[in-house]
Amino acid sequence: ALKATIESIESNGIPQISICASQGKFLQVLAKLCNAKRILEIGTLAGYSTIWMARALPKDGKLISLEYEPLHASVAKENIRRAGLENIVEIQTGAALDLLPKLAEEGSAPFDMIFIDADKPPYAEFFQWALKLSRPGTLIVADNVIREGKVLTENHDDERVTGVHRFNKLLAATKEVTASIIQTIGAKEHDGMAIAVVN
Ligand code: SAH
Ligand code: DHB
Ligand code: MG
Repeated sequence: ALKATIESIESNGIPQISICASQGKFLQVLAKLCNAKRILEIGTLAGYSTIWMARALPKDGKLISLEYEPLHASVAKENIRRAGLENIVEIQTGAALDLLPKLAEEGSAPFDMIFIDADKPPYAEFFQWALKLSRPGTLIVADNVIREGKVLTENHDDERVTGVHRFNKLLAATKEVTASIIQTIGAKEHDGMAIAVVN
């Protein structure tokens, strides 16, 4: 199912920006570590990271994943179905900053684990919503917070870089979490994930 997901990205002309396999397994380890029953993902793409995390859930677990692009959402739904995870995974189509307040209103929170991996400029806002949808002990993970070290440059001309720069500063200043960043050099470029536990 994971290999078919990667192939579906290729055949649908979607960018190959999923996390890599070792990162997927790492997210699965983290989900098991926090005994997750409810996971929120911001940024589905084709459901590759979704499948890795959903496989860590019990049969009555739930993973809600938010995706802006209708094509990505429909390809992801097919991949989730192929993986036999359609009873656990719910993909919601729309802009995350529109969907997150609805999740709060509907009483979908708290989540045990939240994975932030959508567009980079609003990463700080995604994090603030993640905090609202958390409880003490919730694990918040954010992808792509190193970007080959470009985050060290203040006022970079790439807004994907300034977005995660702003997120990293906010993370460090947020007393409600204990957080660190792990850098990775692997199948893809030099990048990293932030890992925060809510106090
Ligand atoms: N988590 C995926 C990769 C996500 S790529 C994996 O590792 O397998 C980022 C995705 O976020 C893209 O599909 C993009 O369309 C989506 N996205 C971008 N901006 C968004 C927004 N504001 N709200 C929801 N999804 C968004
Ligand atoms: C990009 C986004 C991602 O989530 C990722 O893992 C790699 C690259 C990007 O928008 O460039
Ligand atoms: Mg990413």
